[in-house]
Amino acid sequence: GPKIGILTSGGDAQGMNAAVRAVVRTALVIGATPMAIQEGWQGAVDNSIRELSWSDVSSILNQGGTIIGTARSQEFREKEGRLAAAENLINHGIDKLVVIGGDGSLTGTDCFRNEWSELLSELVAAGRITQAQADAHPFLAVVGLVGSIDNDLVGSDMTIGADSALHRIVDAIDALSSTAASHQRTFVVEVMGRHCGYLALMSAVAGGCDYVLIPERPPVDDWEEDMCRALTAGREAGRRESIVLVAEGACSADGERIDAHQVAAVLKERMDVDARVTILGHVQRGGTPSAYDRWMPTVLGYAAVQTVLEQEPGEPAVILGVRHNRIARLDLVTAVAQTRNIATLIEEKNFEEAVAARGRSFTE
Ligand code: F6P
Repeated sequence: GPKIGILTSGGDAQGMNAAVRAVVRTALVIGATPMAIQEGWQGAVDNSIRELSWSDVSSILNQGGTIIGTARSQEFREKEGRLAAAENLINHGIDKLVVIGGDGSLTGTDCFRNEWSELLSELVAAGRITQAQADAHPFLAVVGLVGSIDNDLVGSDMTIGADSALHRIVDAIDALSSTAASHQRTFVVEVMGRHCGYLALMSAVAGGCDYVLIPERPPVDDWEEDMCRALTAGREAGRRESIVLVAEGACSADGERIDAHQVAAVLKERMDVDARVTILGHVQRGGTPSAYDRWMPTVLGYAAVQTVLEQEPGEPAVILGVRHNRIARLDLVTAVAQTRNIATLIEEKNFEEAVAARGRSFTE
């Protein structure tokens, strides 16, 4: 049967293992051979590729991270690295791939896919593979699944890992709330999410926080005053704790980054409050996947195998995401371009468009 390569790339996310397991077992059931490309694209460059058996993916459903390793490969960004990757894939007979990663990894994968025949010609000319090998694998089929706690992919309601990260953050907020309430304290909590405020916004709502700062929509001009007013109102209403949530990419209306320590300094200066700062960091990306991050990637992994086997030469690469609680088939290039566009809008300080685009990505 056909060989299907599977790799996880970019930052890890809870639920990647569920996707790996589903791809492996679906492949085996239909008579294909699943091949792990280990440590992301770096494993293709280094020829760290091995066949996976049914039991290799036993008991991983409840584990965070990815058992086949991940990396942000520098070598794969260079032509030499991609030539080596193509040579190794060809030698293993792999021309179908399921790639689980963020938008950066999926873009890199699509470039590699478009470059495939050019790479093979160069390898043949250099005597590194035979013409017969090149002819046997005229095109690379690619299906992407989005593994990222950030939930930043335009076109998919959820990405693999976002729900687990949200759970982790809300657990932390609950834990901080009880100690904060005991002392009538204020906490500033910083969460991940690069260019996407999803984790900050949703955990602020779920955790009942007082104020939130996200990248897409910078606060009103005098955010310092606005925040202090919100916190004061909370205390006047009888709240014993105050919690301000800051996304790591939060910025002010003039585009300056706002970090958690800065927020605490503002609280000290304006309210004479000794706020405690908690930066959650990679705790958000580790640990047990939620139930959703087990069944959703399982369904997607199953569908990814079907889709990669059906892909015809000339068809564009696809991402399988989730839309209205159903599997959604997205054009990889479009979804990634729209995702990048929001990051660019934020960098260009075009916040109005950024927030409109983010809103559309969830409602349309
Ligand atoms: O994209 C996932 C993410 O966790 C972001 O939220 C964060 O900005 C980044 O990765 C952190 O990267 P690293 O793991 O390289 O520190």
